[in-house]
Amino acid sequence: MLLRLVELTKSLGTQHVLDGVSLEVPPKARLCVVGRSGAGKSVLLRLILGLIKPDSGEIWYGETNLVPLGERELAPLRREMGMVFQNGALFDFMNVEDNVAFVLRERRRPESEIRQAVSRILERLFLQGHEKKMPAELSGGMRKRVALARAIISRPKLILYDEPTAGLDPIGSTEITDLIRCLNEEFGATTIVVTHDMRSVEQIAQQVAFLHAGRIYKVCSPEEFLSSEEPVVKAFVHGLVEEPALGTC
Ligand SMILES: Nc1ncnc2c1ncn2[C@@H]1O[C@H](COP(=O)(O)OP(=O)(O)OP(=O)(O)O)[C@@H](O)[C@H]1O
Ligand SMILES: [Mg+2]
Repeated sequence: MLLRLVELTKSLGTQHVLDGVSLEVPPKARLCVVGRSGAGKSVLLRLILGLIKPDSGEIWYGETNLVPLGERELAPLRREMGMVFQNGALFDFMNVEDNVAFVLRERRRPESEIRQAVSRILERLFLQGHEKKMPAELSGGMRKRVALARAIISRPKLILYDEPTAGLDPIGSTEITDLIRCLNEEFGATTIVVTHDMRSVEQIAQQVAFLHAGRIYKVCSPEEFLSSEEPVVKAFVHGLVEEPALGTC
């Protein structure tokens, strides 16, 4: 397994957000983690990246448990990971080119190599001609693509996407899901996509993990997930409301 989560728990404030999450992700896999808003999906990604620590449990990345590691030991492993944050998290004061080049500059790669890599990736993500734009001058879909370019330029072994299609129109959304799939197939990067968009699940996932009530409730194929008769899964997939909804008249 490339990644193995064992009985992770995490409380934030007074809330038990994760209550024993276990999950195995093989190398090169394309996994969607789904769950309701507030289920703890972003928290789970932040735990994997080591940005926050669990209260208990283990996070095995290959042969290494990341949980006891300090920042210094974690840094080289984190360099093998790429993250596309829910809000893009671009540097607003840097243009597209500099945002995408950031990680390579930080690693002191030669400038000629950086220019070549940036131009190749911007072309691949249909962003050529937009190199000098600032993030504020981009559409939502373009911002997502820049965030994607920035995350994949260093060829990570593991790439984590947090709601990559949120806020996009159906065509923009399909462009992104196609790219996620292609990048996984081209570079073989193990891919974890957090989403509550069922179309994205259909377009991306080989496997779906459903996060519910602080645990991974079910792992299965997207076909099985989308046609499941299990009440909790069915309610999530079809947006069924068990109790009177806020908007009920
Ligand atoms: N830093 C924090 N301090 C306190 N509570 C937090 C913090 N971060 C997250 N939470 C809480 O943890 C729960 C899970 O949050 P998380 O952001 O992981 O949800 P999510 O599944 O990603 O939701 P969404 O689909 O809306 O993005 C929420 O109830 C949230 O309020
Ligand atoms: Mg989230």
